[in-house]
Amino acid sequence: MSENILINKSASKENVYIQLIPQLKALFDEGAGAIANLANTAAALKETFDFLWVGFYKVNNDKLTLGPFQGPIACTQIPMGKGVCGASWQQNKTIIVPNVEEFPGHIACSSDSKSEIVIPIRKHNNVLWIFDVDSSELNHFDSVDKQYLSKIALILEDYV
Ligand code: SME
Repeated sequence: MSENILINKSASKENVYIQLIPQLKALFDEGAGAIANLANTAAALKETFDFLWVGFYKVNNDKLTLGPFQGPIACTQIPMGKGVCGASWQQNKTIIVPNVEEFPGHIACSSDSKSEIVIPIRKHNNVLWIFDVDSSELNHFDSVDKQYLSKIALILEDYV
């Protein structure tokens, strides 16, 4: 395992994701379990893109429980269907929120969060984890983020 994530950040956003993904794959360790692999994913994404918050919630019966993350402290439990994370879990689909104030029921863990993308991580079509990325800028997440963060979520299915 290399000790650092090496990225040329002057490249386009798409190219930065393209540089990052093979390095993430090299970091993943099947024997280490979900927490270790998700923790390194959060750290690598935070370091590369300086997102406000990157992390994971674990599906735990009828609620989500906070898992590995990087960024400000966050809500520890989210009921099914509540907030963006609970909605993404319930609907089993990716949700991009350009302006969190316009999302009914958004859960504001940090008042600095302005936009958000939430992606389910599945195993055999069951949602096991919810992948949440928050930005301090409005309208931060677009189809490029959706494409590559979904790719990362798909790769993670083998490591959670
Ligand atoms: N905003 C999320 C809650 C999680 S935090 O952003 C870390 C939501 O509405 O589900």
